[in-house]
Amino acid sequence: MAAGLRFDGRVVLVTGAGGGLGRAYALAFAERGASVVVNDLGGDFKGFGKSSSAADKVVDEIRAKGGKAAPNYDSVEDGEKLVQTALEAFGRIDIVVNNAGILRDRSFVRISDEDWDIIHRIHLRGSFLVTRAAWNHMKNQKFGRIIMTSSAAGIYGNFGQANYSAAKLGLLGLSNTIAIEGRKYNIHCNTIAPTAGSRLTQTVMPQDLVDAFKPEYVAPLVVWLCHESCTENGSLFEVGAGWIGKLRWERSLGAIVRGKNQPMTPEAVRDKWEKVCDFDNASKPRSIQESISVLNDALSQIESEGNVSMNSTSSGSVASSSVDMASIVGRELATNVYKYTHLEPILYALGVGMSTKDRDHLKFLFERSEEFCCLPSFAVIPAQASMFDGVPSLPGLNIDLAKMLHGEQYLELYKPLPTSGQLTSVSTIADILDKGSGAVLLIDVNTYCGKDLVCYNQFSLFFVGAGGFGGKRTSEKAKVTVSPPKRPPDAVISDVTTADQAALYRLSGDWNPLHIDASFAALGGFKKPILHGLCTFGFAARNVLKQFANNDVNRFKAIKVKETGEVAIAGGYVDIVPALNKPSAQEPLKMLKIKLHTTGLQSDLVFEEIACRVKEMGNELVKKVNAVFQWDITKDGKTAMQWTIDLKNGSGVVYQGPAKTSADTIFTLSDEDFMDVVQQKTNPQKAFFSGKLKVKGNIMLSQKLEMILKDYAKL
Ligand code: NAI
Repeated sequence: MAAGLRFDGRVVLVTGAGGGLGRAYALAFAERGASVVVNDLGGDFKGFGKSSSAADKVVDEIRAKGGKAAPNYDSVEDGEKLVQTALEAFGRIDIVVNNAGILRDRSFVRISDEDWDIIHRIHLRGSFLVTRAAWNHMKNQKFGRIIMTSSAAGIYGNFGQANYSAAKLGLLGLSNTIAIEGRKYNIHCNTIAPTAGSRLTQTVMPQDLVDAFKPEYVAPLVVWLCHESCTENGSLFEVGAGWIGKLRWERSLGAIVRGKNQPMTPEAVRDKWEKVCDFDNASKPRSIQESISVLNDALSQIESEGNVSMNSTSSGSVASSSVDMASIVGRELATNVYKYTHLEPILYALGVGMSTKDRDHLKFLFERSEEFCCLPSFAVIPAQASMFDGVPSLPGLNIDLAKMLHGEQYLELYKPLPTSGQLTSVSTIADILDKGSGAVLLIDVNTYCGKDLVCYNQFSLFFVGAGGFGGKRTSEKAKVTVSPPKRPPDAVISDVTTADQAALYRLSGDWNPLHIDASFAALGGFKKPILHGLCTFGFAARNVLKQFANNDVNRFKAIKVKETGEVAIAGGYVDIVPALNKPSAQEPLKMLKIKLHTTGLQSDLVFEEIACRVKEMGNELVKKVNAVFQWDITKDGKTAMQWTIDLKNGSGVVYQGPAKTSADTIFTLSDEDFMDVVQQKTNPQKAFFSGKLKVKGNIMLSQKLEMILKDYAKL
């Protein structure tokens, strides 16, 4: 008995196991401890006749080796009976390998109705019936593994096999959906397209290939896919001769062929044909949501840009949804030497809101102050110079600076920065993530003073609309934020930015016009220029330093900040070391609240704000909306908060908890997605199509949402 992947206690049903591939599967499972139902109708390869001898022979073989097996002689069209044999003989069913099959090869036009039907009945319908019979058993025991057997003839087409090709690719569609429906019950379904010498291939393959392509070179893949430790689900593999490859869909970037308020014409299709079929920078959609999201992007692009020719010139969301990961991750971007005098740290301090009005700010603003020093967060400035050098020229990534947002920032300082001198920064792409609505680049930057490493930064840059390229959503390389402790803030600080804050801050080196030029900001979909995320970051850092470390730059260790849009900073921390004169006092991590947060949910702020507006103008809203909306806000997949916006009764009211009268519409979405909708990073329809927003009740009322959220959620 083989060690390693074991199947003791598992019951496996292999259809068509009386010969060829099925026999090899049955033997392999039995050898690894499984109890195997060997099903075979025992007819010829065209599906004529029947006999019990095929199944019996394999059962005898297994038993002779000390394995456990039971025969079944029914056709897969009697799916229930096959599963019944498993239950009667072994008491359960864990694994179904749909393998039985026949051929009725004919050139397309000569296929008779019968030849068409029988191929579909045995391959496609038979697999459906057997799997359906096993499904509830698998669901109840929260374990199931299913294999569908497709064929290269289905994937690529093959002369004389139209009936077979159609049924075989049908099995892939069946498998794809079963994989989605079964996932939550730990039922996995995968599809294989094998090549092996058998009586089916004997007629088309030379004998030496029939002998060389042994079924034993396919069976181990099936065994692995069916093991409880294998998490693969919904995938397709080609396998043969001891080689295995995985397949996926590839989709060209495509092209928009119509303009706003213009009809779509065949001529426009013809003119864009090359682009429609151009697989350079193609994306690899993995789900129907990813597939549809490009349509939503196209709609917004058409709405915002208005005419066909824009598509060829803009690198907007559709055009940029492709990323060549392999050529990007791990790549060293640039080495930048940053030379500075006292001017730069002072300019930076002013840029992040320091003022001589505050006497203890002088040491950051006046070079002749005895204690003159750099703000710790100044360390992002030399680092970003190196990053900016490299990012716009990354091959394989369509960078649209107008759509770049600064997502998160981590900074660790190893010693206070010199107030003037020369720093060398080396930046590397740590990872690239696909967040669906955009792509995130994680960039690590190490900054040296001579040979000494003085600080490490991790930038996370978000490219709106560049997602959907089939990449992963998370990375172990990302520096994570910590959840705020469940206690009121240790300090609440109010601070203001001036109208010229961005104009001042940019002088420190982030020249992106997005922060100052309204027309450039509009290109990126922003109503007005937005403040640099790193400026807000500087505000946060210096306030924490003052509040909790007495402005002592020696005590600054690290900061992590997550930028989320209008709520300037929602998650983050600053790590401060104990004061030197009190070495034993371990200070707890202090939390800074820039805005008045009462819970960890950002959406709470929005609902509180909506509540204020409803108080002010509820009467008017009730007239316009006349509906009760309940919101179930989730965090990490669980409902974290419920809110009700009642714009139907009296003069309207907003309260925490489920609707007291019945809700017309119930919305479920995560805190993050809610904020994206509020900040118009996505619209409700898009969130709905992508599965992020779930709606129960009167779905049409959701059209009124944009109005409420847009107009009444200004923070
Ligand atoms: P095979 O003919 O040796 O095995 C198929 C088995 O299914 C036979 O033992 C047959 O008696 C049994 N069977 C046929 N109709 C049945 C029914 N209604 N109920 C129960 N059992 C039935 O052929 P092979 O090559 O082992 O094929 C296995 C599977 O792999 C088939 O689905 C075939 O279409 C597929 N496949 C095989 C390829 C190859 O290169 N051998 C290529 C692509 C797909």
